[in-house]
Amino acid sequence: MRLLLLFLFISCAYGLQLKADRKAHWQTGNPNHGPFYGQPEQVHLSYGGDPSRVIVTWLTFDDTLSTTVEYGESDNLDLSANGNCSLFVDGGQRQTKRYIHRVMLENIKAGVKYYYHVGSEFGWSSIFTFVGLQPRPEGGYRFAVYGDMGNINARSLGKIQKLSQKRDFDMVLHVGDFAYDMYEKEGRFGDEFMRQIEPIAAYIPYMTVVGNHEEAYNFSHYINRFYMPDSDHSLFYSFDIGPVHVVGFSSEFYFYTKYGWDQIGNQWNWLLKDLQKAEKNRKNVPWIVTMAHKPMYCSDFYADDCKLYESIIRTGLPMTHAYGLENLFYKYGVDLELWAHEHSYERMFPVFNRTVYNGTKEPYVDPPAPVHVVTGSAGCQEQVVPFVKYPPPWSAFRSSLYGFSRMQVFNATHLYFEQVSASGDELIDFFWIVKNRHGRPNQKDKLKLAKYGTQIPMNYCHHESHDCSNSL
Ligand SMILES: *[C@@H]1O[C@H](CO)[C@@H](O)[C@H](O)[C@H]1NC(C)=O
Ligand SMILES: *[C@@H]1O[C@H](CO)[C@@H](O)[C@H](O)[C@H]1NC(C)=O
Ligand SMILES: *[C@@H]1O[C@H](CO)[C@@H](O)[C@H](O)[C@H]1NC(C)=O
Ligand SMILES: *[C@@H]1O[C@H](CO)[C@@H](O)[C@H](O)[C@H]1NC(C)=O
Ligand SMILES: *[C@@H]1O[C@H](CO)[C@@H](O)[C@H](O)[C@H]1NC(C)=O
Ligand SMILES: [Fe+2]
Repeated sequence: MRLLLLFLFISCAYGLQLKADRKAHWQTGNPNHGPFYGQPEQVHLSYGGDPSRVIVTWLTFDDTLSTTVEYGESDNLDLSANGNCSLFVDGGQRQTKRYIHRVMLENIKAGVKYYYHVGSEFGWSSIFTFVGLQPRPEGGYRFAVYGDMGNINARSLGKIQKLSQKRDFDMVLHVGDFAYDMYEKEGRFGDEFMRQIEPIAAYIPYMTVVGNHEEAYNFSHYINRFYMPDSDHSLFYSFDIGPVHVVGFSSEFYFYTKYGWDQIGNQWNWLLKDLQKAEKNRKNVPWIVTMAHKPMYCSDFYADDCKLYESIIRTGLPMTHAYGLENLFYKYGVDLELWAHEHSYERMFPVFNRTVYNGTKEPYVDPPAPVHVVTGSAGCQEQVVPFVKYPPPWSAFRSSLYGFSRMQVFNATHLYFEQVSASGDELIDFFWIVKNRHGRPNQKDKLKLAKYGTQIPMNYCHHESHDCSNSL
């Protein structure tokens, strides 16, 4: 009995996967009866873990009994693939039922344009297209990177939709905080948001991590609506694409411990194993880029974790410093750490343990420590998070203009990153990370960091106008 309960409990967290031979409530034997609402909506793609696999996800408000993608190299759609359906019951008053459909498309050919629609005999979506992932002629893949996009005042949305459809991007990395919030109004905010990103995500893979705005009902709107490859509830996972190993994880486990402390340790142990595996494969996949919502370093006004001397994400749990991430990522030579949460854009100098590598003309050429970027300015109704007036030493550039980042990992040595504005077409910032060697920092790197770096002591107050009593 206890086992059964445990099983049910775990299944509900995922959404209950429905059996293929189930009977739907509308099946009465009368052929005139079908589901009340069989129309598929909120179609989106995710990367299946390698370029030959694409995951298609959508939603219906009733049980359609089948889950099918019809696709092909023309709009004849002569191929078809079936998948699974799970029932997601919203935690709100009405316990709204959503049927989440997932199909894995396999043997997708690089560079080939596919047409597809999704559904069942009770309703089909419009026809969308995607192109099998292949490196760009000039090298590597292009990503849109941003966090903190709401459905009210999603200022960057139009531009990202247009550029995605024109295949200016190969993939989106959405670094947490969706819709503000997906659970609101019995989950209708989530539905609206997923409809708003369909013009992006039905065309290119939409890869995600969870933010604090997804916290409701144990992150179940996030867990059910997004489907990341080889993952634990899409909360932590990794994949390789071209020369880059991308690691997504949840910063929120550290803050919503009411859902269980063990998630912090489980994830940390997984991160360690994943980095060990990535290290062995670094000759083939040299870059390691992490993404999670809440940053280690920032210079925003609010008293967020990143402003504390001992940020939990950076240094781990209070007192014990267990499961800190800065040492782990430094040790394995993570190249770039993407964050959001602060509604602004901020590029940091390479930094480790509050030693800022700012004493050279080219801090991003063979940096001896990870580079951090906070890109949380896609746009939402909460407006921008103001910066502290005098930036702390790790802050290299910052902007409060709504916009999003573009990243292209060209090859083993060159990674390009830029920030563009949502209004107009202003290039707000750009930089190259050039690395002639990837891997654990060696003695030379350590000396370089010591020589050209500035160690910022714990009691450092970067301006007397700030309250430096317990935070910077
Ligand atoms: C569907 O469910 C089966 C059995 O649980 C699983 O092996 C398969 O990976 C699932 N497919 C998708 C697309 O989730
Ligand atoms: C929250 O969900 C996770 C899986 O995502 C599960 O491991 C954990 O036990 C859940 N916590 C509670 C309190 O339900
Ligand atoms: C980080 O800096 C602090 C303060 O200078 C020092 O005590 C600590 O040993 C350093 N940690 C590492 C891993 O270098
Ligand atoms: C590096 O940062 C420190 C602390 O803000 C500052 O004193 C120093 O002038 C900076 N170095 C350079 C070369 O800008
Ligand atoms: C890597 O890409 C950069 C930027 O396009 C280019 O300058 C460089 O020559 C490339 N390196 C190799 C080995 O192709
Ligand atoms: Fe946030």
